[in-house]
Amino acid sequence: MNSVKAFAPATVANVSCGFDIFGFAIQEPGDTVELYKRDEPGIVITDITGDEGRLPRQAEKNSVTVVMLALLKHLGISDLGCEVVLRKNMPLGSGMGSSAASAVAGVVAMNELLGNPLSRKELLPFAMEGERIASGSAHADNVGPSLLGGFVVIRSYNPLDIFTIPVPDDLCCTLVHPDIEINTKDARFILRNEVSLKNTIAQMGNVAGLVAGLMKADYDLISRSMVDVIIEPVRAILIPEFKNVKQAAISNGALGCSISGAGPSMFALSRGIENAKNAGKAMQERFASAGIDSAVHVSGINQGGAVVL
Ligand code: HSE
Repeated sequence: MNSVKAFAPATVANVSCGFDIFGFAIQEPGDTVELYKRDEPGIVITDITGDEGRLPRQAEKNSVTVVMLALLKHLGISDLGCEVVLRKNMPLGSGMGSSAASAVAGVVAMNELLGNPLSRKELLPFAMEGERIASGSAHADNVGPSLLGGFVVIRSYNPLDIFTIPVPDDLCCTLVHPDIEINTKDARFILRNEVSLKNTIAQMGNVAGLVAGLMKADYDLISRSMVDVIIEPVRAILIPEFKNVKQAAISNGALGCSISGAGPSMFALSRGIENAKNAGKAMQERFASAGIDSAVHVSGINQGGAVVL
């Protein structure tokens, strides 16, 4: 095999109450990575589109190629020559798992080029290293679902214990990206390190409720459980119109609404595509009334994750 192309989808991390432990992928958009073998050893980035020239072009500095280099090192391969093309189809700092999608597409493409020596789950630690480079933290709630698909739960980071749970077939996501940028590092920096016992109890109840609600297809329980008393109140101040946009989603058919990943994108979950579309329209109108353009993506939960094209 001399060339490979892989696609990895955007993701919604945290899913309200599950900071760093819940995430799911949507169908579109996503990033693609193309790899072309060459005779001369070494990994070189030959083109990146969609980043407005902002991502590093050196292989040792770009998280996409860093994950590939880590994979090659792990496998003891030092003589591979390969050109890399990254096509970004979502904005940087969007809260849509942009860096994760690139890293996942990269590591999946490289694994394929090598004849799939590692399983999808075994690729996860490499993709997580990409997140460490991009945001300073090796969280898995974007790379996990982008790589594996489904609704992902990370029970533990040390040791890594990650699994997917079933969700109702007609659960739909509305992802609205307002035209502003938030750096994940900054959005993590502003979080407090201590949490009160009262808030911990409330958050644990909601985490348990959301998992049970999704697994039992109990929409009322999903709706009641989409409450984040720890992270959302701190980060909401970074998103203009947050409260109004959230209210607009819920008043127009959504089960719940919160920040997607580190923001500024906001997501809503709804029963059925019509509710999801209505929520998206209302959310977009609310941003527009404050003079903020936004892009809306409506999709079911992506059960497959990254694909080799
Ligand atoms: N769980 C992460 C955060 C996702 O909220 O910081 C961001 O990529």
